[in-house]
Amino acid sequence: MKNLKLGIFGFGCVGQGLYHVLQQSNSINSEIVKICIKDLNKSRSLDASYFTDNKDELLQNDNIDVIVELIDDAEAAFEIVTTAMNNGKSVVSANKKMIAEHLEELLELQEKNKVSFLYEASCCASIPIIRNLEEYYDNDLLSSLEGIFNGSTNFILSKLLDGVQTYDEVLKEAQDLGFAESDPTLDVEGIDPKYKLCILLFHAFGLVTKPEEVFNYGISKINEFDIDYAKKRGLTIKLISKCRRNSDKIEAYCLPTFIPIGSVLSQTSNEYNAVVLESAFSESQLLYGKGAGDKPTGSAVLSDISALNHNYRYEYKKKSKNQGKFKLCEDFDLRLYVRYDGTSPNFEDFDSIEEKYYSEKGNFLVGCIKLKNLKNSNWLKEASINTIVLN
Ligand SMILES: NC(=O)c1ccc[n+]([C@@H]2O[C@H](COP(=O)([O-])OP(=O)(O)OC[C@H]3O[C@@H](n4cnc5c(N)ncnc54)[C@H](OP(=O)(O)O)[C@@H]3O)[C@@H](O)[C@H]2O)c1
Repeated sequence: MKNLKLGIFGFGCVGQGLYHVLQQSNSINSEIVKICIKDLNKSRSLDASYFTDNKDELLQNDNIDVIVELIDDAEAAFEIVTTAMNNGKSVVSANKKMIAEHLEELLELQEKNKVSFLYEASCCASIPIIRNLEEYYDNDLLSSLEGIFNGSTNFILSKLLDGVQTYDEVLKEAQDLGFAESDPTLDVEGIDPKYKLCILLFHAFGLVTKPEEVFNYGISKINEFDIDYAKKRGLTIKLISKCRRNSDKIEAYCLPTFIPIGSVLSQTSNEYNAVVLESAFSESQLLYGKGAGDKPTGSAVLSDISALNHNYRYEYKKKSKNQGKFKLCEDFDLRLYVRYDGTSPNFEDFDSIEEKYYSEKGNFLVGCIKLKNLKNSNWLKEASINTIVLN
């Protein structure tokens, strides 16, 4: 087994988590050579000799084989990762934003430089979903993949549905626990889980998408009226990312969704994530685990480092097999609950409306609408309107 020499970028939540899991994993033959951080004046739990703020001390260091990129700045991360690969170093990253935004370029770079680029921690942190899609579901039998891909919004929703804390109190708690991104908008507006969905769309079906092509809607407008609606009907609310194959079309979105209490996804609480896979003969399968936090995320990074010890690379079999076969589709119906107050949604955007409810506390409708009409609607941007999928 090789003795891998690691250069780590970032020593925040995940960087420190990785350090701890590395200390406790005797089987991984690796050594930290240097850690690059942004602010050299911050107090650190390790000896100062480990740290630098000069990226070239890692990127141009012939004694480093593997760059582990764990920073919270996607643009800087892209520069670090591309330079590392061009310098012949394999890379492990947890940066879903950077990967989702630059997937094709990153694939070309690893091919051109004959290096590995692994990023299991970028999707659902501790859940080994990418490696499973690559190795186990390496055929055409997979029909859909959906789940809870964001630990901090799941934490917020779980606490909100408990009804004890306010939205702001719960968001602060999620940030203090290291579950939320530095910019919470990425979590609460459903952008972070959408990045993960883009990465998984590629590993599930070989479909390359740009994040802006996939519709996302977050949880920041959920209020007591919506929570009351759920509770009265034996439902809970989860931020669900979903992709489904329909012949040669792929339907994909990230939207808050009412889930029956007692179902598998309803029981996925707090920072836990879950992925439900449907395939032709095995039918429904579940992967469940912590989707955020220092050591759970660090353990996925560790697993990638361990895989590099065996020269593991993603083969991207579905990309070559399905080249051009699948297209992203927005022409499918969603059954939605839309709560409004004052301004109403444009009823003509809906294919059908099965219920309209008016009261002093608020109004709602339940109806079916094509994703493309929902995406293009102006009414959805109103602060007083919220929508949640009803299956
Ligand atoms: N937190 C989670 O649960 C989780 C789960 C899955 C994936 N991720 C991903 O993992 C990555 C790291 O997240 P995190 O939560 O660990 O972030 P974090 O706690 O905010 O830490 C960020 C680290 O990056 C360093 N940094 C920022 N810009 C840098 C630059 N240009 N060069 C060198 N170092 C730089 C910071 O340095 P200073 O210490 O000097 O400020 C800090 O150590 C992100 O891509 C995130 O999306 C996080």
